[in-house]
Amino acid sequence: MHPPALGSFPVRRPRRLRQSAALRQLVRETELRAGQLVLPLFVRSGRKLRRPITAMPGVFQLSPDELVRDATAAAEAGVPAVLLFGIPDRKDGKASEAYARSGIVQRAVRLLRNELPELLVITDVCLCEYMSHGHCGIVRADKRGEKILNDPTLKLLARAAASHAEAGADIVAPSDMMDGRVAAIRAELDRRGFTDTPIMSYAAKFASAFYSPFREAAESAPKFGDRRSYQMDAANTNEALREVALDIEEGADIVMVKPALAYLDIIHRVKTAFGLPTAAYAVSGEHAMIKAAAAQGWIDERAVTVEALLAMRRAGADILITYAAVDVARWLKERGTRDG
Ligand code: PBG
Repeated sequence: MHPPALGSFPVRRPRRLRQSAALRQLVRETELRAGQLVLPLFVRSGRKLRRPITAMPGVFQLSPDELVRDATAAAEAGVPAVLLFGIPDRKDGKASEAYARSGIVQRAVRLLRNELPELLVITDVCLCEYMSHGHCGIVRADKRGEKILNDPTLKLLARAAASHAEAGADIVAPSDMMDGRVAAIRAELDRRGFTDTPIMSYAAKFASAFYSPFREAAESAPKFGDRRSYQMDAANTNEALREVALDIEEGADIVMVKPALAYLDIIHRVKTAFGLPTAAYAVSGEHAMIKAAAAQGWIDERAVTVEALLAMRRAGADILITYAAVDVARWLKERGTRDG
């Protein structure tokens, strides 16, 4: 990750080490493995339901039975972990279904725990899918407009995370970007005896236009305003480092940068500055761009997907969250036929 300064030693002729696939493999600096991949999945109640998402080809809202099918396929391909998002039957102003014992995510986690005990189940902890207004926190409206209430939201997030852990989640992943939520979640997990449940925080989460296909998938588009009061400005790097530092101080075990491809510099700086396990989330818009161009025959889907993930690894990401996880895991198994 830290190339020594050129000029301090003689530079060899680079072509010499590129003459065959085996040679290139031998001197490869970055490895992409199925064991690094996480597959996001969307679950909603029902049976035999696979509802396609327009701007995310190959991604579906799944009923629990279909969720088990896809999770099984992922595990068989060698993907070690899934990241669960829930679409509740009912939304309200306090996100009740986010922390209900019988909530969709809680039920799905119990089911996966039973059916696939080896699979790591990570749960997204947020309120936007469960709120009637689609924001990640409690909203108060007054004459000056709507405001997201940071502190009262923390209690709900902590309850949601603990209810996921209780259902059997291996890792909880808060994505809301309220200040202080990692500390609040850690305290609640510890209080309820889940001292060994790690927190993967969406630490540097930018207010990004790359999320729009996801909002259709999770039915979580804000009904008014946007998320710029709690997510980060795409122009800021130092702020990202401060957000990550705070989350680590509050107890994050794994930190995430999101989106991934347009934020490789952030991934690199976060990994270099903190050295913690670092995740990169290749978000819905990144997936949509590759799928759309590939469908036109304008790019090679497999080559571009692998190249983008390799770039995230090169930047310093240890964990890659991608909608293409199963495809990639399968491609990696076939490797040897190709360089990638
Ligand atoms: C919820 C959340 C979002 C994503 C993950 N968790 C959307 C948002 O912040 O609006 C985006 C994931 C993607 O685009 O693939 N807060």
